[in-house]
Amino acid sequence: MADLDQVLSYVDRERQRFVADLVTWCRIPSISSSEQHRGEVRRSAEHLRERLMALGCTTSAILETKLHPAVYAEWMVDPSKPTLLIYGHHDVQPIDPLPEWHSPPFEPEEREGRLWGRGTVDDKGQVLIHVNAIEAFLRGGGALPINIKMIVEGEEEIGSAHLDDLMQEHRDRLSADFVVVSDTAMFGRGIPSLCVGLRGIAYFDITVRALTMDAHSGSFGGGVQNPANALARLIAGLHDENGAITIAGFYDRVRTLTEGERKEIAALPFDEKAWLASVGATAVAGEKGYSTLERVWTRPTLDINGLSSGFQGKGPKTVLPAFASAKLSCRLVPDQDPREIAKLVEAHFQKHAPAGCSVEVDYLHGGHPYLAPTDHPVYEIAKRAFTRAFGQPTVFIREGGSIPFVRTIADRTGKPCLLMGFGQPDENAHAPNEWLDLENYHLGIKSAVYLYDELSRTK
Ligand code: BES
Ligand code: ZN
Repeated sequence: MADLDQVLSYVDRERQRFVADLVTWCRIPSISSSEQHRGEVRRSAEHLRERLMALGCTTSAILETKLHPAVYAEWMVDPSKPTLLIYGHHDVQPIDPLPEWHSPPFEPEEREGRLWGRGTVDDKGQVLIHVNAIEAFLRGGGALPINIKMIVEGEEEIGSAHLDDLMQEHRDRLSADFVVVSDTAMFGRGIPSLCVGLRGIAYFDITVRALTMDAHSGSFGGGVQNPANALARLIAGLHDENGAITIAGFYDRVRTLTEGERKEIAALPFDEKAWLASVGATAVAGEKGYSTLERVWTRPTLDINGLSSGFQGKGPKTVLPAFASAKLSCRLVPDQDPREIAKLVEAHFQKHAPAGCSVEVDYLHGGHPYLAPTDHPVYEIAKRAFTRAFGQPTVFIREGGSIPFVRTIADRTGKPCLLMGFGQPDENAHAPNEWLDLENYHLGIKSAVYLYDELSRTK
């Protein structure tokens, strides 16, 4: 049995080296959406696997998919002890626009207690929190108190398209008593937060075509459909004057918030001004009848993520574009189903496409929403562990983002998926100048230590 004080003082002693290890991993540009970076995503997986092997895991593997590999490792120390499955991802978002970065995205720099660089918080830092906690038990305390399995995906940022296949193929490896994911943010600085709800997602590429080629807008304009105009109209019609989505059937499966849920959300010390300021927004906007947190955490959305058509160069060009396209995604809430939503979106566009235009709706990926069973005893355990590390009461929050693994593993194992995140809401994930609060990194490792220790006493 490891002496917890020794484990924790190991975490203190190795604090700087743990940061250096994160820097090394973050130097590998594992951008999953970029064809040119395919080799780097693999290198990132191999780097992690080597680190885990150095920690004496009893099994490890690179799990191949049709695109980017995942990493798997396990430390099976005692069959009479509970098993914890840890999930994270080693792929990162693209870095554009590069000129906005104050230091190079893949040369992480420490400034003012923060580590700046792509992947520091989303999600390499949060994966290493667990790796470091494992190391602290093994090297500082002598042994792990529980069995640990770890799966670290390489396609999370592009929708986890091969995750279901991967989990099916390796289902025996993924059985566990508890599941923890560290890929979310805390409610605010120093406030330990367990995330108990995530939105799902359905992502589409929409193309409207009307002509076989670009045409002179003087000769044809006003006499044929302009796909850019048509797409703009279609998009404008997707929300009504109250900010509600107009797609037939879209809300059919949306659960109504209970008064209790609304009260819990309203009780959180949300600083709306600071939240707006963090992205330079000047006013809130959204569906009528809901508070900002309710909108972002508990209501479905439909957003255009990209829009393109016609002449994009400098100066004018009088042309009717042959086609127009949009990237469109819906964030989903319980009990919406991404495939059902995909059918509704397709039907909507086909129904409203004007004569002379064809519309193609391509469903790119989807993930289910998640709502945790917070009455499960693991929530009290996690609260205790988190609070011990941060010295502050732990709050329950939800998040508006998506992690497809979460609902899949919860359904598969029948166990709740604990979302113990150590990010900060203003850490610029997916944006230029991503950073990780190094105090959170350090206390995150201690939270994981306390968590493993608490879990070890459940059997
Ligand atoms: N770390 C995020 C998930 C997240 C986002 C949690 C915001 C809490 C708040 C994750 O890496 C992510 O960005 N996921 C994608 C998933 C999508 C591509 C299926 C997302 O939410 O856009
Ligand atoms: Zn992430």
